[in-house]
Amino acid sequence: EKGGFDHFMLKEIFDQPGSLTDCLRGRLDMENLTLTLAGVEEHMSVFSQAKRIIIVACGTSWHAGLVAEYMIETLCRIPVEVEYASEFRYRNPVVGEGDVLIAISQSGETADTLVAIEKAKEAGAFIFGVVNAVGSSIARLSHSGAYTHAGPEIGVASTKAFTAQLTVLAMMAIKIGREKKTITEAEYNRYLAELALIPEKVKAVLETHESIKEVAKHYADARDFLFLGRGYNFPVALEGALKLKEISYIHAEGYPAAEMKHGPIALVDENLPVLFIATKDAYYEKIVSNIQEIKARKGMVIAVISEGDTLIRGMADHVMVVPEVDELLAPLVSVIPTQILSYYIGVLRGLDVDKPRNLAKSVTVE
Ligand code: M6R
Repeated sequence: EKGGFDHFMLKEIFDQPGSLTDCLRGRLDMENLTLTLAGVEEHMSVFSQAKRIIIVACGTSWHAGLVAEYMIETLCRIPVEVEYASEFRYRNPVVGEGDVLIAISQSGETADTLVAIEKAKEAGAFIFGVVNAVGSSIARLSHSGAYTHAGPEIGVASTKAFTAQLTVLAMMAIKIGREKKTITEAEYNRYLAELALIPEKVKAVLETHESIKEVAKHYADARDFLFLGRGYNFPVALEGALKLKEISYIHAEGYPAAEMKHGPIALVDENLPVLFIATKDAYYEKIVSNIQEIKARKGMVIAVISEGDTLIRGMADHVMVVPEVDELLAPLVSVIPTQILSYYIGVLRGLDVDKPRNLAKSVTVE
């Protein structure tokens, strides 16, 4: 069942080149340079004319929503809001006709997300579901949708569902951007080519798992952890922190790296590991100075870096290396080392990584 792996979590992390290929199958066609997403195409005018897009989700799915906000605003120039489903459902949100609500959920059964959908639907919004579990309640409640096709996820901590969500959301943004002509034909072709390479690049990161295990040994006794990233990698910092918390019970916080100086930097001393998601992108120089700020205060720095990066390698205590990827798709690759690191730290601490205490796979109560 676990396919020779010690835990479902590890199996599911290693499933990702395959689950992402499944997610792209029948959609991305590199021969004809086409992207097929029936659920979007059938309602293209709803998307291209949307006044705004509201994304609702919880936990890891909410983090995927944050990445999607950056993707959709960049490629489609449609304003996007990302909300915790639990907050959206209880406040009195301004939502109605002309709004598109994207609900993201692995299980398709999360109670808060379900009720948020019902509320927006009653108010006249168009509901699009990005769901993993086929035939689930959220899939049924939505007007349209796109399945993530990641396969069953058994580990309580979400891993392969997250990367499949990012893939579907990227495909949506690319497709809508092309329709709206807010991206050029050349950009469209480049994104398709980049998408096609993702499963191989994820595989390349998985091949480094032994070296990530070594990194884990240095930090398994940490009491706290800070995860920092900017731009597309900011939600990856949040996701990295959530995963570590769930799996290792180490207190971890994620922040946009620039927010550090507005408070969290007070925590930094020689005992605090700070994990930077620092792949090559438009924010690279900025993140380098953030790393210097931590080193100047004797913090321990672990960095997820792009292949060939010698600058950060020279500054950090430990690095985890990933292939270069266009920044829009970077989270798909940069999240992988954080999943593996959490897994090994949890195992080193002797914990039940597949079923962390107090957590359930799907939260069907509010
Ligand atoms: O099934 P959903 O995607 O709606 O679940 C949302 C969250 O409950 C879920 O992502 C949770 O945060 C996971 N334990 C994260 O690993």
